[in-house]
Amino acid sequence: MEIEISGIKFKNPVLTAAGPTSLSGEALLRAAKGGAGGLVAKTICPRRAKVPHPNIACLHQGNFNAGLINAETWSETPYEQWLDKEYRVAKSSGLPVIASIGYTADELVFLGPKVEKAGVDGIEFSTHYIGKDTKTIAETAKALKDSVSIPIFAKISPSVEDAKTLARTLEPIVDGMVAINTVGPVFAIDPQTKKPLLGNSFSWLSGPPIKPIALRFIVEVSSAVKIPVIGVGGISSGLDAAEHIMAGASAVEICTTALLRGPHIYGKVEKELVSFMEANGYEAIGDFKGISQKQKNELHDTPKITEECTGCRICEKACPTQAIEIEKIEEVYRGSISREKCTRCGLCISACPVRAVLP
Ligand SMILES: Cc1cc2nc3c(=O)[nH]c(=O)nc-3n(C[C@H](O)[C@H](O)[C@H](O)COP(=O)(O)O)c2cc1C
Repeated sequence: MEIEISGIKFKNPVLTAAGPTSLSGEALLRAAKGGAGGLVAKTICPRRAKVPHPNIACLHQGNFNAGLINAETWSETPYEQWLDKEYRVAKSSGLPVIASIGYTADELVFLGPKVEKAGVDGIEFSTHYIGKDTKTIAETAKALKDSVSIPIFAKISPSVEDAKTLARTLEPIVDGMVAINTVGPVFAIDPQTKKPLLGNSFSWLSGPPIKPIALRFIVEVSSAVKIPVIGVGGISSGLDAAEHIMAGASAVEICTTALLRGPHIYGKVEKELVSFMEANGYEAIGDFKGISQKQKNELHDTPKITEECTGCRICEKACPTQAIEIEKIEEVYRGSISREKCTRCGLCISACPVRAVLP
């Protein structure tokens, strides 16, 4: 599963993302042991980060699928320590290390040459806090590009208004793009305490709920440019990673799931991705990269309920026009969908927990 992106050879396409799971050289070594194919480090900035406490919470108590909110900014470790120690520790894994730096043009020009000298293989720069303006982001990217000789990747925030234009503007400047950062700002309340979930009012959403937003950005960006796009947002399984690739990503990064479930998740996602590829006869990422971009999904006829039906009646309840009837005939469930009532909205197909409703 070795892949090469902008001249950097990754052991496999599942990488760490900037965040708490990459907050030090030791954390990155744990990710390497857990099976990551490359190490993207926590964002550093010449300014010291100021964070509220608490700054990370599960959106719904104990439910990892509901997503995470955070009010972290960038690394609380001084950038000097990253240059003196943390990147070196990460590099001892033998994997490529990508520094993440922020935010203004002056700050990138200050840090870029320093992280290059510290031996990192590439630079991801975050556009999260430099606004939505394409011109400002492009000028910032150009300033960084002119100051270093290693590949640079622009990580885009989902708050940008026109991702396609941004991608096309950045294409001649950067070596690749990363999509997406956290979604927000959002606001969450703990109904027990009646207080905001985090130590300041607004925060940022990540994890499973943002996957469809990430996929939309990957489609938009990767269809607009020829440079590689790394997908990040809501990946918990090999199938999620496969979806990012089918949308147009060349590799993926994981943050939230690795934080909640531990660093073994990188290796698990990679194994599941390999299984998906084997089951579908794909030998390389390139065999299915972007295949879903141009496909249409059309429902021409009323769906059918197959003999796999277990009688849970979820489809019956979810049907907005009461077109579905489930009957139990001699211990076997038989479902039927009225052609007259069915509006072909398609909800029953994905609502069925056992895929017994088919187009
Ligand atoms: C607690 C936390 C801290 C983060 N810190 C950074 C950061 O310093 N720099 C950055 O570019 N992205 C940061 N991110 C965003 C992640 O790298 C990633 O883009 C986002 O969370 C979506 O991926 P996920 O759904 O796998 O978490 C952070 C995310 C979380 C949850």
